[in-house]
This record gives sequence, structure tokens and C-alpha cells, in this order.
Amino acid sequence: MISRAAELLRESRNPVVFSGAGMSRESGMRTFRGEEGLWKEYSPEQLSSLSGLRSDPEVVWEWYKMRLITGDGIVPHAGYKALTFLQKKKGTLPVITQNVDGLHKLSGQTDVLEIHGSMRTASCLDRCGFFTELNPESLQDLPPLCPDCGAILRPDIVLFGEPLPHQVISRSYKLAEECDLMMVIGTSVQVWPAAGVPFAALENGATVIEINPARTELPQGENVISIRGKAGEILPALVDMEENK
Ligand code: OAD
Repeated sequence: MISRAAELLRESRNPVVFSGAGMSRESGMRTFRGEEGLWKEYSPEQLSSLSGLRSDPEVVWEWYKMRLITGDGIVPHAGYKALTFLQKKKGTLPVITQNVDGLHKLSGQTDVLEIHGSMRTASCLDRCGFFTELNPESLQDLPPLCPDCGAILRPDIVLFGEPLPHQVISRSYKLAEECDLMMVIGTSVQVWPAAGVPFAALENGATVIEINPARTELPQGENVISIRGKAGEILPALVDMEENK
């Protein structure tokens, strides 16, 4: 299975990556669904919505602070490094990610499309135009306030009920429609419209290489090569095989 995937990867002219929370699991980030998922413990309506942010800004910001500050010690694992190597070698390898942890960029990858935004920056909830990088110091007093107009700041992630950034999602679909291979890594493929991206790739006739320890919503078929394993273990092995076989 993995050697066939390495062969397809080597032959591919237009590969694209599509990643989800499982890509960062071995860096210490938790996934959303499943037995150990965040949504078993926390309520997305409260912690990841505009109404939650307006009614309980301290609680919401505590949660992002916890994820960001824990995330501070979180570094890209070997799978990220393998992808960075592959991107440099291929010359082109756009990375579409649902993750807001910024680890693809932190590992040196370029052309990263963060379709759910990033929790490493924040901006004014009242849209006065203020924008800032987040760090532990800026989150000492919660909720953080806009220094220009005094409104609450919001993390620059897509909250429940908000549309995805138009240009980012439309380019993602375009890439899916034009690619010949998509690596779908660590996502349950359950949250739309993001989840439509790998289906668009399949519809256009591309091959999908899926890396995930568990079965997902993706169909099983000859265009889908499912490698059941962890991103941090499979990606280095796959890229090594692509390079040396
Ligand atoms: P999920 O939590 O739904 O799925 C994570 C997937 O990662 C599952 O299929 C796991 O089997 C897999 N997984 C776990 N450990 C892994 C590992 N070490 N290597 C590879 N795969 C592993 O996360 P997403 O699909 O990313 O939205 O969820 C999509 C969206 O739902 C998120 O972006 C977030 C959430 O609500 C927003 O915040 C807007």
C-alpha cells in the first residue's frame, strides 16, 4: 500500500495536501471528534461561536489561551518535516488545512491555505481594523481588548455559523479540481464545506492517498489508497520511499 502510494506521489505533477486535526495529534494537539475529542468535553456552541464570545468573552478566551499557550510548546513532528521536504522537492505542493494551530507554516511550508483561519492572530470584534499576533504576554489579562477602540478582540478563526474566507475556499476547490493527487491527512472529512474538497478531487479523477489510523467518510475504491497509520510515522516513511525507491 505505502509503496504504491510512494510511486503515485513520485509520478504526480500536481499534488495537493488536505489536512485536519489528526495531522497535529502527535505534536500534542487534541482532535475534535472521537473518544478523546475536544467536543466530548467542551461545547462548540459556547467556545467557538460569536454569541459565546460576546456573552462570555473571558471563558472563551481562557479556552483559546489554554490551546495557544499549551500550543506554544507544541512543535511540528517528523511528519510535518517530511511534508516540508516533499514540498521543496516537488517545487509545488499547496497545503489546504482545516487546522488553526499554524504548524504547517511553522514547519517552513509555503502556499498554506488555512480555511478555518488561525488562532495565532486576533483582530477587533467591532472591525475597527486592529490586528495583532497573539503570544502569552498579550493574553495575560482576559479578554484581550482592542487598544484602538476598546472592543473585545476575537481570534482569527472561523467561528460556528460564520462563512469560510471566500478566496481561500474558492482557491481550495480550484486546486481540488485541477490536482492529480491529493494527500488527505488526519481528518474525519465530516465538516462541510471543507469536507467537500477531497470529494471534488475525486470527482475530477484525482487519486487520494489517505493517512489516518481510522476509517473516515471517504469512499473506499480504486482511486483511494487508505494507509491506516499515524501521520508522524507514515509521512516520513512515505516521503523516504518516494525519494529512494
Ligand atoms: P476530527 O477531530 O473530526 O478528526 C480527526 C481525525 O484525525 C480522525 O479521523 C482521526 O482518526 C484522525 N487521527 C487521529 N490521530 C491521528 C494521527 N496521529 N495521524 C493521522 N490521523 C489521526 O478533526 P477534523 O477533521 O480536522 O472546525 O475536524 C474538522 C473541523 O471540525 C475542525 O477544523 C474544527 C472542528 O469543528 C473549526 O474549528 C471551524
